[in-house]
Amino acid sequence: MAKELRVALIGCGFMGRTHSNAYRRLNNFFPVEHRAVLKVICDVNAAKARTYQDTWGYERLETDWTRLLNADDVDLIDICVPNRYHREIAVAAARAGKMVCCEKPLAMNVAEAEEMVKAVEEAGVPNMIWFNYRRVPAISLARQIVEEGRIGRPFHYRALYLQDYTISEDVPQGGDALWRLDAKVAGSGVTGDLLAHSIDTAMWLNGPITRVAARTETFIKERRHVETGRREPVTIDDACMFLAEFANGSLGTFESTRYARGRKNYNTFELNGADGSVFFDLEEPEYLQFFEYKQLQSGKKTESHLTGWRKIHTTNSEHPYMNRYWVPGTTIGYEHTFLNALGDFVMALEAGACAQPDFRAGLQTQKVCDAVLESARSGLWLETGVA
Ligand SMILES: NC(=O)c1ccc[n+]([C@@H]2O[C@H](COP(=O)([O-])OP(=O)(O)OC[C@H]3O[C@@H](n4cnc5c(N)ncnc54)[C@H](O)[C@@H]3O)[C@@H](O)[C@H]2O)c1
Repeated sequence: MAKELRVALIGCGFMGRTHSNAYRRLNNFFPVEHRAVLKVICDVNAAKARTYQDTWGYERLETDWTRLLNADDVDLIDICVPNRYHREIAVAAARAGKMVCCEKPLAMNVAEAEEMVKAVEEAGVPNMIWFNYRRVPAISLARQIVEEGRIGRPFHYRALYLQDYTISEDVPQGGDALWRLDAKVAGSGVTGDLLAHSIDTAMWLNGPITRVAARTETFIKERRHVETGRREPVTIDDACMFLAEFANGSLGTFESTRYARGRKNYNTFELNGADGSVFFDLEEPEYLQFFEYKQLQSGKKTESHLTGWRKIHTTNSEHPYMNRYWVPGTTIGYEHTFLNALGDFVMALEAGACAQPDFRAGLQTQKVCDAVLESARSGLWLETGVA
């Protein structure tokens, strides 16, 4: 482990914790040459930064991210702040020659995302967007099954991403805790926050989404804004449903809401093809369900009374990422999806490649999100521009 990867992480919230944990664990689980060094922790809130410094062992702290740009002891800037700040930080970091990893959604809109892609590509700096669900072993296995041709001609893709935490009218908008409900800071509601994940996974498994027709709804029209103390219009989408056409000719349905009582982080997808189907549910993340039709037909005799879905416990060392962890039958968790993403990023770095999904992949998802929101406004089917 001759080299150091000196990290400056910006944003001491939910994602700041998951990423800090990943940097701390990287060299325990991934045999990479680089040693992750938690160099600087940065947050506008100094008290939070101090707590993170103590908890995770960062060497020093900053409250102004611009001070990281010329820091000689920083190789990588990791952006874990609300969406409103992604573009400004990422562009400046790339221009300063730093590697940049950024949380999703990449930006507030396509124009910002394009500027970010241009900045990292012109600077030639390694970059990644943290679409961590790709790194759930069961989801990576779904991708492997598709690549092996076991699904055959795809017909349908179906995704749900459901939560319930904004049902009460008393939930305010804006401020530190609820910036996601303030379109000025989040860009959009469930479309950018939740469906961005579903769209990234869908396009990774089933190729580009070319056209969409969407309907959004804002169920509670006004909420108290934490910063002004006044009731103000809510301008995010509380719920979004859209129909999609994929370039491969298959059709998709996507639904997301924060008003599905009882659902906390219910993220599922199903892909149906001529030769098979896969189904995933994040509430049982170690399982991938697989129905294989082709193999049944090619056998000497189809034992139809034994046909059915297989529930694959993705814990064997042959399953994606699992050879890094424990013995077969034992599971890993949510936090490992970030560790796996970081491991992929560093391995790609050492191979002279750019890990996927990079900012350009994040731009493709942003294009679909923007087309979805515009379609909901206009009521029209719209091209996404994703090729
Ligand atoms: N990959 C995922 O599954 C996933 C999950 C949750 C959030 N996210 C994304 O991660 C990002 C952060 O979300 P979160 O839930 O961690 O937010 P959070 O509200 O928990 O934390 C954000 C932190 O950023 C700090 N901050 C705000 N503006 C800042 C600035 N200008 N400079 C420095 N610090 C600043 C805040 O003080 C806060 O500590 C968002 O883009 C979000 O969409 C991704």
